[in-house]
Amino acid sequence: MLVIGVSHRQISDIAGMVFHVKRRSLLSGILGRSRAATVAAPVSRETLTPMQDSETIDQIGDDTPIARAAQAAVRAAGRAGEGLPRPAATRVIVVANQKGGVGKTTTTVNLAASLALHGLRVLVVDLDPQGNASTALGIDHHAEVPSIYDVLVEGKPLADVVQPVVDVEGLFCVPATIDLAGAEIELVSLVARESRLQRAIAAYEQPLDYILIDCPPSLGLLTVNALVAGQEVLIPIQCEYYALEGLGQLLRNVELVRAHLNPTLHVSTILLTMYDARTRLAAQVAEEVRTHFQQEVLPTAIPRSVRVSEAPSYGQTVLTYDPGSSGALSYLEAARELALRAVTAAENGSVGQQRSASEPVAAPMAQHSTMEDNR
Ligand SMILES: Nc1ncnc2c1ncn2[C@@H]1O[C@H](COP(=O)(O)OP(=O)(O)OP(=O)(O)O)[C@@H](O)[C@H]1O
Ligand SMILES: [Mg+2]
Repeated sequence: MLVIGVSHRQISDIAGMVFHVKRRSLLSGILGRSRAATVAAPVSRETLTPMQDSETIDQIGDDTPIARAAQAAVRAAGRAGEGLPRPAATRVIVVANQKGGVGKTTTTVNLAASLALHGLRVLVVDLDPQGNASTALGIDHHAEVPSIYDVLVEGKPLADVVQPVVDVEGLFCVPATIDLAGAEIELVSLVARESRLQRAIAAYEQPLDYILIDCPPSLGLLTVNALVAGQEVLIPIQCEYYALEGLGQLLRNVELVRAHLNPTLHVSTILLTMYDARTRLAAQVAEEVRTHFQQEVLPTAIPRSVRVSEAPSYGQTVLTYDPGSSGALSYLEAARELALRAVTAAENGSVGQQRSASEPVAAPMAQHSTMEDNR
């Protein structure tokens, strides 16, 4: 193609505008909204500049974008171990999105580790037959290990299958083994098939501040058990094309469970994951999600980070694998936001409020902080 008198920058701007228009109609259609989504201006590069491996605070000035990002990261890091408010009652958070590979497990284990590092007692329930959360927490989950399958299908007490996570004090895990793959079918014929996890959690007597349930990428009986057991749903959304596809179905399922089985259930939190600040697409998806779910989206987005993806192969969360990486710092910050916004909500008297995540809410987010890590 011959292009005369048009700069590279102009070509990419034009391509971005064409994509932008297509994307608006796609996302509005996916979410089934009559309100056309307004895509805000792309996020400023200043807030998104990555801090490279070799850079330290001392090596960089304090008036550059990198310095500002680094200082923000250090401030976040300084809060680890400082403590976060304990919720009045155990918060049971279901991490769900039937789309596969969006960061459910990564978010579950890293938020759980972050909360525990802040001094809270946290239990991760691995409800996915893949057992990825168990792997990431370094928990043995071969076929003979007592697991969530025994709890759901055999009626074993949760206390009999809980294991401590070696690396992180205050963090515990209920592992999933391959047995769980058959549970969807086995549960069908059992009494109270949708509320077996809820009953097991209710009977668990150890004090806990948070329970995070890692769901499989489906909306079957396992996910329904999680939705019946929890009060809150946390939806990780990957900042990629088609990120919101299927979200309408998940929200409808949450509504159904709330209407018929668990009146306390609500979508409390949306976390943007795998944010790649180099792409216009990521910024557009993030803005679109923030426009639709103004109050639920955490200000911090998790950057795409090699360290985050490497950590599970060492049986670790990124918090212990590379505590100084931007992925670790982002999860620490997201955990802080998750814990503190509940306190703010409680002070405003809106805890447990029955509101659909699909309903637009009034207050816009005040802040939008993202970082990128290409390591
Ligand atoms: N912030 C990140 N940066 C880089 N890679 C990431 C990040 N978050 C997740 N990943 C990688 O993306 C892949 C999918 O993540 P994860 O397993 O957490 O998704 P999931 O939603 O739990 O998947 P599934 O639906 O199969 O359960 C994994 O290989 C993980 O290491
Ligand atoms: Mg998973």
